[in-house]
Amino acid sequence: MLSKNIETALNKQIRIEAESSQVYLSMACWAEVQGLEGVAQFMYRQSDEERMHMLKLIKYVNERGGHASITDLKAPKAVFGTFKEMFTELYQHELFVSNSINELVHVAFDEKDYATHNFLQWYVAEQIEEEAQAKTILDKINLIGDDKGGLYLFDRDIQQITVTSSVGINK
Ligand code: FEO
Repeated sequence: MLSKNIETALNKQIRIEAESSQVYLSMACWAEVQGLEGVAQFMYRQSDEERMHMLKLIKYVNERGGHASITDLKAPKAVFGTFKEMFTELYQHELFVSNSINELVHVAFDEKDYATHNFLQWYVAEQIEEEAQAKTILDKINLIGDDKGGLYLFDRDIQQITVTSSVGINK
């Protein structure tokens, strides 16, 4: 049985994962209308991943005697100045999520809820992968700069980046 404190903390994370899914869906739309199909597909997949992160938490809360709450969500940004700006935001967002997971682990430990602490280790490992992947992509974008030809090739190659830098992406 989850304590109220843990239930509240997990529900907060459910909302963060749901909002992450929306953030990447919005990035997918922007990339798609800009004509970068590879980037758009990558973002659609990221959005699906976040939804999966959310569902895993929802099921855990409900199975442990809590009640997962489905709330309204903050609207994500719809337009980005450049691809570099968009990928910088993706990286910053993943750092924010990692921080939030760390706090959650801390709460579970404080409450001596070792089952939740154990459950959260999957998220700790996942965040290492997500951060590494976002950083790899951002490094590439920084190398390309404003070069249109480079961006075209990047759009083609991003599928490959996701496969080689992260085993988590296609789960
Ligand atoms: Fe669910 Fe990208 O963290």
